Amino acid sequence: MDWGMKNRMAQLVQADGHCCFLPVDHGYFQGPTHKLEEPWKTIEPLLPYADALFITRGVLRSSVAPEKTKPIILRVSGGTSVVGKDLAHEGITTSMEEAIRLNAAAVGISIFVGTDYEHESLLNLAKLVDEGEKYGLPVMAVTAVGKELEKRDARYLALCCRIAAELGARLVKTYYCEEFEKVVRGCPVPVVMAGGPQVDTELEVFQFVYDGMQKGAIGVNLGRNIWQNDFPVAMIKAIRAIVHENASPKEAQEIFESNK
Ligand code: 5RP
Repeated sequence: MDWGMKNRMAQLVQADGHCCFLPVDHGYFQGPTHKLEEPWKTIEPLLPYADALFITRGVLRSSVAPEKTKPIILRVSGGTSVVGKDLAHEGITTSMEEAIRLNAAAVGISIFVGTDYEHESLLNLAKLVDEGEKYGLPVMAVTAVGKELEKRDARYLALCCRIAAELGARLVKTYYCEEFEKVVRGCPVPVVMAGGPQVDTELEVFQFVYDGMQKGAIGVNLGRNIWQNDFPVAMIKAIRAIVHENASPKEAQEIFESNK
């Protein structure tokens, strides 16, 4: 690995080998998502507790002051919307030159395995990896399911993660699921967990984050279950404790209660 690639990976994955990324990219296909209507108001209180932001160039430029130094994972795929025909029909929306101009630490792209656009999205990933490797920027692949949330089982996610790794992604972001160890075992690059739509209780989030970490994830890229919570700062502090201090779900719940 070249120095630039190593340096960028080290900005993302902390010295303990773990990471707590904060995704705020949802508007690129969902519009003004609940609790992310005014991005900076959501991001500002959470920023000190995030190891990196996953964000589009538009929200980065408009809503995050460049002086607020935090590694950026730039969302570079898109071109679809929740009211359009097919969420899987994404293209690359942002060039590598733009990612470098924005001083991104990595770029992120969704892949849509098993859809009509599987081939395009996988070739987009491969092309992005070629570009990223040329300039020393890691690519994070996102195993996206669009509106078909029920797809999120170990067999399907293991397939997606392995393909992403084979095509050269340096990091893979996927969903937690039952038998998550099978997903991690089959993926030769680090795996981070997304949260999906908000679940019913905080404890459920702490339990799946803890279990996923025990089963080999290196961290989280968790959005709605943090910033759609009524106490987002308490939430991110609790999750950070699981990721970086091996706190148990019970300890995380105590951290949440004492910070809310
Ligand atoms: C949305 C994304 C998000 O970054 C990802 O889904 C993580 O966020 P959440 O925890 O809210 O699911 O890729 O396009």
